Amino acid sequence: MSLDGKVAIVTGSGRGLGLAYAAELARQGAAVVINDVDAQTAADAVASIQAAGGKAVAVVAPVGPTSTAQELVKTAVDTFGGLDILVTNAGILRDTVLWKMSDDDFDAVIGVHLRGTFTCVREAATYMRENKVAGRIICIGSPTGQRGNFGQTNYAAAKAGIVGMVRTWALELKRAGISVNTVIPVAATAMTATVPYFAAATEAEEKGETMPSFFRHDLGFGTSDDVAGLIAYLASDAAADVTGQAIGVGGDRIQMWSHPEPITTSYHEGGWSTEALETGFADAVGPLQSVGESFPPLPDELTRS
Ligand SMILES: NC(=O)c1ccc[n+]([C@@H]2O[C@H](COP(=O)([O-])OP(=O)(O)OC[C@H]3O[C@@H](n4cnc5c(N)ncnc54)[C@H](O)[C@@H]3O)[C@@H](O)[C@H]2O)c1
Repeated sequence: MSLDGKVAIVTGSGRGLGLAYAAELARQGAAVVINDVDAQTAADAVASIQAAGGKAVAVVAPVGPTSTAQELVKTAVDTFGGLDILVTNAGILRDTVLWKMSDDDFDAVIGVHLRGTFTCVREAATYMRENKVAGRIICIGSPTGQRGNFGQTNYAAAKAGIVGMVRTWALELKRAGISVNTVIPVAATAMTATVPYFAAATEAEEKGETMPSFFRHDLGFGTSDDVAGLIAYLASDAAADVTGQAIGVGGDRIQMWSHPEPITTSYHEGGWSTEALETGFADAVGPLQSVGESFPPLPDELTRS
């Protein structure tokens, strides 16, 4: 696979997963616009890609406002001559339970993830349509957006919203040959470094060792580099027909997520009145669906105090 001659923007790519995506896209031949709010990490990311023989430039600006989306696309076009690939990865967390979540906590997370994805994709898709580029747009979701998670009202809303937008954009951009997919990563990053459950995996990564199979295989939890291959694949010509999908990847695992669809259908002539539901609800809808993610207990040898 080669992305020679392609131009990519990766938001939030100063460190973590975004940096791994940018580095892999560059390794495959794409010129990359690095973006971050942290000027130093952005500069370091550009330097590391250039040191490896790649092409990169930085835009230090917060994703969310339309002005940043415009600056990102303009930089790609002015510096590298076009835009073929957009990865909307920038993200923050402001975790707390619903009854303690402030308006600011909610707005900040929605602003970066949901609004940031909307403004960047709108700008990139507009450029791609006007210039007849069969572009590749990859938005980053989360298991929390798919399943819900304790303490993550804002993040769940943003990530579920992203998957909803991706389905819509896949429909709207299909005629233009632009693919839009969600990647749902799981990886050891700054976000997971302090979670006790992952301590043995973090420890292995810090020592430069392969993470235990329990993490890589059973949990689908590995390094940022483990996610980067799917990003580059979806950005390539080989994946031209893949659009509107939500694909999970981490460690040794890849998973196709289903989109919500009705799983039972029942009819009651004249409609479902309160009385009809009182007697018929359980039979009509079937077993209740589970919410949240469940993690298996840690094997004893991987437990850290
Ligand atoms: N780590 C995981 O297991 C995991 C799981 C699911 C989803 N994700 C998602 O993957 C993405 C990257 O996560 P990560 O773990 O690498 O996080 P990270 O915190 O290591 O990296 C995020 C980067 O985004 C930058 N950033 C924050 N706000 C920004 C803004 N407004 N504009 C531009 N840059 C901004 C940060 O400075 C940072 O460099 C996020 O969208 C996150 O929600 C991560």
